[in-house]
Amino acid sequence: MRIDIITILPELMQSPFSASILKRAQEKGVVEIHFHNLRDYSTNKQKSIDDYQFGGGAGMVMMIEPIDLCITKLKAARNYDEVIYMTPDGETLNQGMANTLSLHENIIILCGHYKGVDQRVRDLFITKEISIGDFVLSGGELAANVLCDAVIRLIPGVLNDETSALTDSFQDDLLAPPVYTRPSDYNGNKVPDVLLSGNFPKIEQWREEQAYQRTKERRPDLLD
Ligand code: ADE
Repeated sequence: MRIDIITILPELMQSPFSASILKRAQEKGVVEIHFHNLRDYSTNKQKSIDDYQFGGGAGMVMMIEPIDLCITKLKAARNYDEVIYMTPDGETLNQGMANTLSLHENIIILCGHYKGVDQRVRDLFITKEISIGDFVLSGGELAANVLCDAVIRLIPGVLNDETSALTDSFQDDLLAPPVYTRPSDYNGNKVPDVLLSGNFPKIEQWREEQAYQRTKERRPDLLD
């Protein structure tokens, strides 16, 4: 998978890609990340990429031209499955979306700032708008980092058995059951007996019951 990220702050985004699973995914050649600094596509002397909004009002708007130049250049080189815009008024990210996106070959992610982008960018270039939740960040960069992490770990070959995504919360619309490790007794706080029993069908049944119970208590909406 190839991910092209268009941003005015590439340096803000880079560190999550240089550690742990995202780093390994790139080393394995499973994913390629390319940053594009939007200012490099500005056609004016000041390298500005935003301007006042028509009709007045506080907040700058990101201009269409640099975004057009960047996206058009990328699209001339290859086909893209999605051109994603990170925005609080997009569709809320969930595990199903991450699963679908992880199967794509090439995607572009555009990070917004200030009051967002000129509506014509959204009308002409964007195929999917994604929010990571009902709150407003200073820009789309950290949201794009969250999206990339959720997607990349699902690409076949990224996780091994130990870190398998199949038992994650949400993967089967249930929250994950509780987990324990050594010691089996910590100052009288004991691990449930069933987990020490060696009876794997029984352990599996216990985990399913716990997952269901936890989901019912914390996220009953997932069971609807
Ligand atoms: N940009 C600012 N806030 C955001 C959010 N909640 N999700 C995605 N992009 C954003």
